[in-house]
Amino acid sequence: MALEFVPLGEALGVEVRGFDPSEPVNDTDHKALHTAWREHLVLVVRAHALTDKQLIAFSEVFGELDPPGPNTYGAPFLEEHPELNVISNVVEDGKHIGGLGAGEAVWHADMTYQDLPPKAGVLHALELPDSGGDTYFANMIEAYESLPDDLKQRIEGRVAIHDGAHNSTGQLRKGYEEITDVRQTPGARHPLVRTDPDTGRKALFLGRRPHSYIVGLEVEESEDLLDELWDHATQSRFALAHQWRVADTLIWNNLCLLHRRDDFDDCARRIMHRAQVKGDHPVT
Ligand code: SIN
Repeated sequence: MALEFVPLGEALGVEVRGFDPSEPVNDTDHKALHTAWREHLVLVVRAHALTDKQLIAFSEVFGELDPPGPNTYGAPFLEEHPELNVISNVVEDGKHIGGLGAGEAVWHADMTYQDLPPKAGVLHALELPDSGGDTYFANMIEAYESLPDDLKQRIEGRVAIHDGAHNSTGQLRKGYEEITDVRQTPGARHPLVRTDPDTGRKALFLGRRPHSYIVGLEVEESEDLLDELWDHATQSRFALAHQWRVADTLIWNNLCLLHRRDDFDDCARRIMHRAQVKGDHPVT
C-alpha cells in the first residue's frame, strides 16, 4: 500500500498513513519518508505500538543514532538501550525512570549545546496522562523568512552560545554549576541563522532562551535582541500542537524547529521513549 501524507497544519506537519513503523521499511517508503520529513518537518504516525528495538530500527531509517545528552541523574535510563532516552515523571522504587518530570518544557531544540546537534528527534508514547503534556513544534524556516529586514541584518553573521548546563525544564544537569554571567555559559556556539545543506533553506537557530548570549554584544543588548527574536519565533502562526495518543510516534527536524511541552498532573503517569539521529553536516 502506498504511503499517504495528510497535512496537519498551515505551518508544518503531516500524518503518515498506510504505514506500520514496526515493520522493516522498503526503499520506496524510505525515500518517501525522507522527502516528507525534509519538506514538512514533523511526521506523525498514529497508534502503532513499538518495542524499544523497533523504535531503534525505525529511527535508524533517518540515520545513525546519537546517544542522549547527560541527564540530571548522571546515568542512562535504559541500561539495555543507552542510545534511547526516557522522558517521564514516573518514579519507581525511589528511582526516576526518565527525565524532565511533569513540568512545562520551554521552547528549545535538542542538544544544540553540542557542536553537531542531532538532525532529528523521534518520540514514542508509551503511557499518557488524561490531559496535559501536549507537545508543540514551531517552524524556524518560516520564522526566519518573515523577520523584518532590519532584524535579518542585525543577526547576519552573529553567533550565540547554546546553554548545556540546564535541561528544558530548567533543571541543572549533573556536573554543571548555576550560571551567573551569560557570557560564560557553557555550550556550543552556533550562527543565529542556519542554512540547511540539503535544501538551502535558511532557519533561525536559537536553541533555548535561558542563559543564551549573542557573542560580542553587551549583555543588555544581547538580552534585548534575543527577546525580540524569541517573541517573533514563538508566535502561534508558526506552530503545530500535538495531542498525544498512546503508541503515537513523532519524527521531527530538530535543526529547523523548536519544540516545547505543556505541564501535566504529576500524579498521572507519562512515559515516552526517545531516539535522536546524528546531525551529518556542520551547522553553518
Ligand atoms: C522534549 O522536550 O524533548 C520532550 C517533549 C515531550 O515530552 O513531549
